[in-house]
Amino acid sequence: MSHTITPLTPHQTGAEIRGLDLSQPVSDRLRAELNAALARHGVLVFRDQDLPPERFKRAAQIFGEIMPHHRRSGDTTEDSSIFEVKNLEVAPGKYYIVGESFHTDHSNDPVPPKATVLHPVALPDRGGDTQFVNVHAAYDDLAEPMKKRIDKLLAVHVYVSQYSPRKLIKVDDDTAAHLPPPAIHPLVRIHPENGRKYLYLNPVRMDSIIGMPDDEAQALIAELMAHATQQRYEYRHQWKYGDMVIWDNRSVMHQANADYDMTQLRKLYRIMIKGQLHESDLEATRGVEVDLEQRVPS
Ligand SMILES: [Fe+2]
Repeated sequence: MSHTITPLTPHQTGAEIRGLDLSQPVSDRLRAELNAALARHGVLVFRDQDLPPERFKRAAQIFGEIMPHHRRSGDTTEDSSIFEVKNLEVAPGKYYIVGESFHTDHSNDPVPPKATVLHPVALPDRGGDTQFVNVHAAYDDLAEPMKKRIDKLLAVHVYVSQYSPRKLIKVDDDTAAHLPPPAIHPLVRIHPENGRKYLYLNPVRMDSIIGMPDDEAQALIAELMAHATQQRYEYRHQWKYGDMVIWDNRSVMHQANADYDMTQLRKLYRIMIKGQLHESDLEATRGVEVDLEQRVPS
């Protein structure tokens, strides 16, 4: 079957792929081509896919090994591989939306996921888009003094930062018992596949920047977030049934939108793909220790 890969924005963030059936086995050559396309565009949108759970798992594994989710109670599978993203009614008329501010997934993990994959099961009539911003381009456009200022900084990522702009849903005991210790990541990292530098930001989980007072660190994070989330770095995805969307958590940040009728169910299957650390990550964090209690929301 022939297929097409079409960029979705003039700045090459996001590409649409048509003409592939991901429920079928893929050749090594196609696997390499799709992984290269992900490293180039940051987001891939496959159309017209029919992927019930087992097929969805196989399709996701084109991009690597499945990484279990930290939150274990929302999983549809016993092995924690498929998580259900949905609008949860936490109190009468009050809803919790997963991912409702720009972030990168599971950055509190010492080895954060390479990618996240979504496939819709139920969609609202309108709204509920997912936005992506390109953090390679955002880094490239920074002024040289800012690049110099941040190039060697290390941030501490916890499950939920004391400065998080939004609350996370309370974790169950089983999840809390399995959370990894806080992670230390450079603010500027190098992508292991495309070799480009990128801003690694997540206000939900970044608790501190090592060696910097918190007020200064939070002001710096806010300044970088304002820069990186400009529309010129964005691809905005409007969901259609049959989409399988994968994004590279190193190349883009993403956010969900609560701009739809909350009485309508919006549910997507989510799988994460294991990441790897670039040698510069290991180099930058070697011997660095931070004495921190792991924070879990109460
Ligand atoms: Fe997310």
